[in-house]
Amino acid sequence: MTRNSNKYFMGLNSKVIDSFEIERRSNLSYEAFEKDYLSQRKPVIITDAIENWKASKWTPEWFKENYPETILNTDEGEMSMKDFIDAITSESDEPGPFLREKPLGELFPDLKADVTPTPIYVDDNWLKWDFKMKRLNSPLNRLSVIEVNFCGKRIFPYLHIDNLQSFAFISQLYGEKSVVVYPPNQEHLLYRDGMERASKIFDVELPDLDTYPLFEQTKPTKFVLKAGESLYMPNGWWHTTRVNGPSLSTVFSIVNANNWTDFLSDFINNSGLSAPKAKILEYYMKLFKFTKSILN
Ligand SMILES: [Fe+2]
Repeated sequence: MTRNSNKYFMGLNSKVIDSFEIERRSNLSYEAFEKDYLSQRKPVIITDAIENWKASKWTPEWFKENYPETILNTDEGEMSMKDFIDAITSESDEPGPFLREKPLGELFPDLKADVTPTPIYVDDNWLKWDFKMKRLNSPLNRLSVIEVNFCGKRIFPYLHIDNLQSFAFISQLYGEKSVVVYPPNQEHLLYRDGMERASKIFDVELPDLDTYPLFEQTKPTKFVLKAGESLYMPNGWWHTTRVNGPSLSTVFSIVNANNWTDFLSDFINNSGLSAPKAKILEYYMKLFKFTKSILN
């Protein structure tokens, strides 16, 4: 977390920390979303963001019927859709294979129309820009595409914040997941693993309090994201999920005026460039953004 994102959250009423409860909203205009959640960096569930998606017909059985021989590259290696669905719908207590963060357009190009119209809440995404430089366009444009997460019963094995301080818009298409979130100002209780974006605490439901005593002081917010619902997860919020059965969701990663400064800092720090080159890249991106804001 950067100082900047902390500043944003600290701007909220401190009572939010003790009693933060996720709100469910529908028929939410972009202006209201920006004012009440995006600029406040406050999570919200939107219940009707994907109500017109044909993807509501996507179920494990539907995929098994329509794409039985399609080869999937899961975290347990390659397997056919048929075998994948059998594995994730079995009664086994083992986590089973996971199709994780796969770009939908690469996985099922013919299904892209099923996830339209794009929710208005993710339209303003600077990761889609043409930065006029391959070194930037390749990773950033790739990060902007809609991704699919498809799995069976499992806990998400680590408490984390998202990559490069992007914020996430997660839509649950099938099944449901239990979500646990912690605001940025509880980070000092979460045992961040150095500068990694993960906590050392493996399972928030069974923490080792002898080793991680401060964790007892955390005030998590817990909720269930149900099929048809979408979650706005601001950058800097720590989160993890438990999936209690077959689950299919999509996620957009977004950077815009609300998290650009944090994103840029993380992106430059993770660029692997020497200090002088990193400085040049930073100036380039700042100038690019400035020029774009003038010309638009
Ligand atoms: Fe995440």
